[in-house]
Amino acid sequence: MTDLYAVVGNPISHSKSPDIQNAFAEQTGEDLFYKTLLAPLDDFEGEVRRFIEHGGSGLNVTVPFKENAYRLANELTTRAKRAEAVNTLKKMPDGTLLADNTDGAGLVRDLMINHSVVLEGKRILILGAGGAVRGVLQPLLEQQPAGIVIANRTESKAQTLAKDFADLGRISACGFTDIEGSFDLIINGTSASLAGEMPPIPVSVIHQNTTTYDMMYGSNTTVFNQWAEDHGALRTIDGLGMLVEQAAEAFYVWRGVRPQTARVMQSLRNERR
Ligand code: ATR
Repeated sequence: MTDLYAVVGNPISHSKSPDIQNAFAEQTGEDLFYKTLLAPLDDFEGEVRRFIEHGGSGLNVTVPFKENAYRLANELTTRAKRAEAVNTLKKMPDGTLLADNTDGAGLVRDLMINHSVVLEGKRILILGAGGAVRGVLQPLLEQQPAGIVIANRTESKAQTLAKDFADLGRISACGFTDIEGSFDLIINGTSASLAGEMPPIPVSVIHQNTTTYDMMYGSNTTVFNQWAEDHGALRTIDGLGMLVEQAAEAFYVWRGVRPQTARVMQSLRNERR
């Protein structure tokens, strides 16, 4: 019988996840169908329960429910615990839900495998201190960078993150205007790009070999990556690869099979033109 999966969110109709996951299913020959699921803002839990009771095998969780999914889970992976957010739920044989977060693994795989970016021993600057950034810190720190600096508009939130992850590696926090030195990799994890805004950081953060990564993506270069290009960054990458890689990692959690991502990424890029 065909297994059923879905991405749950609100709004959800524009999600690319069904195209990505159904392409993975076709490619790997896994017998599954993946659809969107709109949950009411006040009844995420009920929507998930009904989906699972009606035979659903697993879910991806997106805005604004990742923290709700974290609270609902029976069992959390270590990376989901650290993220305090969940983007993948898997129905276990005993009917309970395993909760995982594949966002950070997706980011790291996109950086290291698709773009050959070395993280070990590198200086990393992360802009933003919301859920998106918390979700990727453990997998980034596991690659043993020389250090991570988190800069945020509200500095206290960056300080909290730095404290929460201090046991995993060298990590510090500051406000945008106090950033010192230059960085090998700068990751934009703020939602400023959505509003077409650029976090007010000094241009001195860029050196001649700097790579920038915007966790956002769009049909054009993001404001952040455009700024980086204009100020001499070696290379800029947008978040489309992270989207596809976190999906592939979720597919692996559910099915134990790792799909190839290159063709799916290419077709999404072609669609955007
Ligand atoms: P997400 O789940 O996407 O991380 P979030 O938890 O609301 O969403 O966090 C949004 C992040 O983007 C925060 O770091 C926020 O900064 P504050 O903590 O100071 O609110 C940051 N952000 C949003 N709009 C921004 C802007 N225009 N300029 C700079 N930072 C911005």
